[in-house]
Amino acid sequence: MIPNEVIDKILDRVDIVEIISGHLPLKKAGQNFKTRCPFHQEKTPSFMVNPAKQIFHCFGCGTGGNAISFLMKYEKMDFIEAITTLADKASIPLPRQGSPDRQKTSFAEKLYEINGLACGFFQENLAGDAGREARRYFVQRGLNERTIKDFQLGFAQDSWQALINYFKAKNIGEDILEKAGLVLRHETNRNFYDRFRGRIIFPIFGLRKRVLGFGSRALGETMPKYINSPETHIYSKGKHLYGLNFAKDHIRKQDYAVIAEGYFDFILPFQNGIKNIVATLGTALTPEQIGAISRFTKNVIIIYDSDTAGEAATLRGLDLLIGEDMNVRIAVLPKGNDPDSFVRKEGPGGLTRVLKESRDLFDYKLGTLTAKFKKFEPRGTARIVGEMLPTLARIKNAVLKSGYLKKMSEELSVDEASIRAELGKVKPEYAGAKNSSYAAGNEPQAPQLLRCAEMTLLAIALEDPKLAATIREKLGFEKFKSKAIAGVLEKIVGLQKNGEKVIPSHLISCFEDGKTEEIITRALSIAPTIQDRDKGLRECFRHILDENVKEAARNNPDMYEVKRLIDEHRNMLKKIAPEVTVKKV
Ligand code: CTP
Ligand code: MN
Repeated sequence: MIPNEVIDKILDRVDIVEIISGHLPLKKAGQNFKTRCPFHQEKTPSFMVNPAKQIFHCFGCGTGGNAISFLMKYEKMDFIEAITTLADKASIPLPRQGSPDRQKTSFAEKLYEINGLACGFFQENLAGDAGREARRYFVQRGLNERTIKDFQLGFAQDSWQALINYFKAKNIGEDILEKAGLVLRHETNRNFYDRFRGRIIFPIFGLRKRVLGFGSRALGETMPKYINSPETHIYSKGKHLYGLNFAKDHIRKQDYAVIAEGYFDFILPFQNGIKNIVATLGTALTPEQIGAISRFTKNVIIIYDSDTAGEAATLRGLDLLIGEDMNVRIAVLPKGNDPDSFVRKEGPGGLTRVLKESRDLFDYKLGTLTAKFKKFEPRGTARIVGEMLPTLARIKNAVLKSGYLKKMSEELSVDEASIRAELGKVKPEYAGAKNSSYAAGNEPQAPQLLRCAEMTLLAIALEDPKLAATIREKLGFEKFKSKAIAGVLEKIVGLQKNGEKVIPSHLISCFEDGKTEEIITRALSIAPTIQDRDKGLRECFRHILDENVKEAARNNPDMYEVKRLIDEHRNMLKKIAPEVTVKKV
């Protein structure tokens, strides 16, 4: 855990406008800045950055927070990463030791450090005498000096101990090298030895350019051709994409990403100017990888060579993407090519042409299946429909789904009703678009007016923190339907009691869940519309008390108890707001 004072200091020192304008084009709008929201699709800007309060808030989708939350949401950082980034910017040192949580990060840090050193060692090897053959190999594969340097490519000598010895001199032992995935242990004699030997090395970077792990390729035809880092505390093959750290800004700018398979399929196109590209490293695309890209764009083109492109397994894997609300196209290279060989033969123009000719995933899948099975024979048709149904079932947008249905019906000469009937039989797990408990909010739905009343109270308390205690005293936080709002008010009372200042942008970081910070920014953004705080308080109290009594009446079979509540309600109201007439309930 990082102490609150340190977080406060960091938030004081950084400017949210500066942070966000590094990622989004901000336009001045009165006291605030605005731009199109990166968290939902929109034509006119409703994303506001408020320099006075040091928060951002989108009036369209409700996303909001402070500088830390922005990095977490926009760059997909975790809390520690976001705070570290800001601390660097503000030149505020972060404490090293501390709670187990902090120790866990320092284990990760330790592995990053080791990987960084190993990466440097491999680069030195490549530059030295031992690296002559590897340098020749890179040239032969068309890589220039700049590329080798930019991607920090290296070479592991053909030795069982070179890396171990390098680290020994630095007092770093084999145990931790094993945890970093750099060394292995002999099965019988239990001796450690270097994992990567006689191979060119590709460091795999995270979004913050730290080395997560390594890939390596044999210089010749030695098998296995590729050896990669195993799963470690900081690296998981299916979660990361090779090259995303280099490509992300290009992906964002061009608003689409090209997804290739191998290291060279990323490097050669990138060197040739196609920079919005990443590689999955031979695995099928996973939901985590899609999640990593969806931060930067919703549009992807997967590029296949013609061999894998038609395989049933490949086609099925694609269904996964549809449920993720991505716009997926497929580009297919001529037989015998991968992006690496193709861009070297045909230049960037050739590859761009193939990308332009990419087809919408649904059309592509339907086309491939129709080419494979006989669509005019009932069995063939049934087979095609059967393969297409899980794809269809995953499409969330009803209009889109209906459009595809129509297309399929025309293409296969099957009436829509039959396809719909079959679609009804598809198991729900296929239709399994992730249900987002987050979006719905984990709280019970309160009636609109009540939600407004509670939100307004929070807004008032954020403007004038001492009123939080008044709200507790006169109304009581247990009367709130929204436990999140009650929690924030409680926190404000606590801070006040300790004589601490209530600074909304700091308050945001007291809550772990993304929802509470959105509640705070929403309240902050309605605050200026409240003219008369006293009147606001009274009206909100009345709404909330009304609702509480109504609910008690609904749920309580005991009439006497209900009557008692109504009396209590009347008395409370008389005290709080004598001039407000009590409504009959
Ligand atoms: N791969 C792997 N292990 C293997 C084979 C492949 O991890 N034994 C991964 C590598 O990331 C590789 C990618 O899958 O880059 C694509 O594999 P492949 O098409 O076989 O290799 P190429 O990248 O075309 O390799 P090269 O051009 O170097 O022969
Ligand atoms: Mn290749």
